[in-house]
Amino acid sequence: MKLQTRLALIMLAIFFCGWLVAGIAAYAIENTNARKDTVHKAEVLLNTAVAARVYTAEEIRPLLADRTDNEFLPQTVPSYGAQQIFARLDEQYQTYTYAERALNPTNPKDLAEGWQVELIQTFIDNPDLKELIGERIDRSGINKLYVTQPIKITQEGCLDCHSTPDRAPVSLLKTYGEVNGFGWKLNEIIGIRLISIPVSVTRKLARDSILSFLLLIASIFLLAYTAVILLVRRWIIYPLNTIAHLVEEVSLGESEIVHLPTKRSDELGILSESINRLLISLTKSLSDRDAARKRNRLVKQK
Ligand code: HEC
Repeated sequence: MKLQTRLALIMLAIFFCGWLVAGIAAYAIENTNARKDTVHKAEVLLNTAVAARVYTAEEIRPLLADRTDNEFLPQTVPSYGAQQIFARLDEQYQTYTYAERALNPTNPKDLAEGWQVELIQTFIDNPDLKELIGERIDRSGINKLYVTQPIKITQEGCLDCHSTPDRAPVSLLKTYGEVNGFGWKLNEIIGIRLISIPVSVTRKLARDSILSFLLLIASIFLLAYTAVILLVRRWIIYPLNTIAHLVEEVSLGESEIVHLPTKRSDELGILSESINRLLISLTKSLSDRDAARKRNRLVKQK
């Protein structure tokens, strides 16, 4: 196998192994980062929901208090405010779905299902726990990352609509009935708010950034590879070929003794010098031998 081919193969093998290892390592790091980033975004969104709830409870509800006796105004419901904000978030956040789930909700659509009941129970059992993060496959088979926080009744105002039906506005009872979403107590954890994001979103983020990283490495390698191959060809392969060619011609007697160029100061220059010396001694010993033979022949003829 030619020197250049061998060198190229070795360089390519090293590059591909390095590329693979770098790719796997970078993907693992990027995946963790993308996940952290997604969880952070989810936390910001959850806090936005909390802020929206407080805003509704503290500012909107007192303002519309007079009207709520006769008509039901969903705008006075903190949960409604939070959900409306999420419905209006721009496309960038549409993969993030927000939900509030309770053990005994006012709106039956908010009833917690099996795994959510377990999460609520975990928060009830561990009152200091502020957040849980996990993954699960939903009904449609999509693997989702969820970030969830407990909903605790910390304001007395919540109990206006969630303690007993006789305390709740009549308009609310007309819409939601007298059965669901009552009996909640102050400082009780009644449910969870959660954000879910398809895991594929975080994986895509990781894949996208890793792709540009791998492309960058590949282009740097390509540059280095081309430079090395060109230099090796110019500095080693061509001079070696010239030396080999000349020496071969001389050895076959096809050419007069020629001097190799010795201008170079590197190893090949030294080699050329040595070969030149070798050729000189060879020529000298050859001519000595010819002279001796000639003398012998003359002696025999005499
Ligand atoms: C004006 C009455 C009212 C007040 C005050 C109120 N809520 Fe509600 N809450 C409702 C109604 C009505 C719903 C159902 C909204 C819907 O249809 O999604 C609801 C829904 C919820 C939900 C979603 C689960 C469910 O029951 O459907 C949670 C959690 C909740 N409220 C917590 C609170 C907390 C905490 C407070 C105090 C900050 C509060 N609510 C104050 C009326 C009220």
